[in-house]
Amino acid sequence: MKERIYIKDLSQYAGQEVHIAGWVNVRRDQGKMVFFDMRDMTGYVQCVALPSREQAIEKAKDIRPEWVLNIKGLVNKRPEKNIKEGVVNGDIELEVLEIEVLNKAETPAFDVVSEGYEIGEENRLKYRFLDLRRDRMQKNIRNRHKVVKFIRDFLDKKSFIEVETPILTKSTPEGARDYVVPSRIWQGKFYALPQSPQQYKQLLMASGAERYFQVAKCMRDEDTRGDRQPEFTQIDMEMSFVDREDVMNLNEELLINVVKNIYSEKEIQEIPFPRITYKESMEKYGTDRPDIRKDKNNPNLLAFCWVVDFPFFERTDKSDNVDTSGEWTFTHNPFSRPQDEHMAMLMDKKDIGDILTTQYDIVLNGSEIGGGSIRNHEPEALEKVFEIMGYEQEVVEKNFGHMIKALGSGCPPHGGIAWGFDRFIMLLQNEPNIREVIAFPKTGEGKDLMMDSPSDISEKQLKELNIKMGK
Ligand code: AMO
Repeated sequence: MKERIYIKDLSQYAGQEVHIAGWVNVRRDQGKMVFFDMRDMTGYVQCVALPSREQAIEKAKDIRPEWVLNIKGLVNKRPEKNIKEGVVNGDIELEVLEIEVLNKAETPAFDVVSEGYEIGEENRLKYRFLDLRRDRMQKNIRNRHKVVKFIRDFLDKKSFIEVETPILTKSTPEGARDYVVPSRIWQGKFYALPQSPQQYKQLLMASGAERYFQVAKCMRDEDTRGDRQPEFTQIDMEMSFVDREDVMNLNEELLINVVKNIYSEKEIQEIPFPRITYKESMEKYGTDRPDIRKDKNNPNLLAFCWVVDFPFFERTDKSDNVDTSGEWTFTHNPFSRPQDEHMAMLMDKKDIGDILTTQYDIVLNGSEIGGGSIRNHEPEALEKVFEIMGYEQEVVEKNFGHMIKALGSGCPPHGGIAWGFDRFIMLLQNEPNIREVIAFPKTGEGKDLMMDSPSDISEKQLKELNIKMGK
């Protein structure tokens, strides 16, 4: 057969013989003729097998939805009355000359042609490879790619470099429970999966990277909700020699550009993004992630805002997962820097509840889609934070000795941010939860129903790790 043509390009081949490959989308027998739609990653086309084409009509009678075919066909212009306006290939039809079946398909567990919201999610997740075939899911993952690519190119132009940081690492105090991985070589010891690359990105600033970003996988063992997954993606970045304005302005520019370039149908409610203090937000909206949309019925309205001036510390809640030995704990990030005028309060450990941090959260339509801060780049200031949290000197040394050393080795002032990328895409794609924009998400109970994980491991594996199961 001739070189394969993508379905979206077929109209350029009117009157010519072509080769396409893809899936049978739907099939309709109409007396002597068989009509079916073929689908590839670029679109759909109506195919017709006529009784005069013997090989084609015979095979066409057998084929079923989701079979994979090679087709040799003739691109015909549709008669005027059959033209479908505004539909890709609405003006052509493929007259099938020859069909080669590349693979058959069992009857699919559910309809892959519909939007899929009506299908039970357990089933969709169990057969995710089928579920992802539907147009809506294809658009979600393809647009997600477009946004990541745009972000990578944008940051590259602004002199950022993407650096991969370890997945097998050590616990970071991000506020959630860690996933841990037992070490075979160091029995009884564990790696932790990163809750974020927070420490590594700061260590990169100490290493002279100056402008870092990463499309980073983060793992947090917390209860899953619509906008939370045990494993999610951050657009993570860190910059040296910057203040709060620099980080916020760059991110605002990037967010606006993503929308303008990839979601031009959407309208941003207000530029520059309004800034709301934590206090004002709590008083006016009763939440620190206010939904400031003027019209909540408009699916194309994006209301971004920054929330700033958060308190640095809050009283310890003993039910938290964070290892809090003292009366106070951080609200966002122990590595944050207080606002300049509150630095003295931190160093003197005075009026702790009044210290404001440089933290900035970015909120979109009532969803927290990111957060970051300027960091304490002097070791003494970070040590004070740990002191206020009631950590013994020994504990600080053991857990954060490397950070204190790095900060004391000529580390430039720095700050950064991380976007919850799944949430951002969810809102851009008008989806009700982040599972719809993640190719292989977990259920609410943290299960991968398709792979059936988490799962047992063999006796041999347990033995190698010297792990014994309790009763
Ligand atoms: P933070 O913990 O606020 O900050 O995380 C940044 C953003 O990540 C998203 N997010 C999640 N998305 C999906 N599922 C989850 N379980 C989940 N948890 C968080 C949110 C959040 O705003 N290291 C700091 C960033 C920094 O200071 O630079 C951090 O991780 O949208």
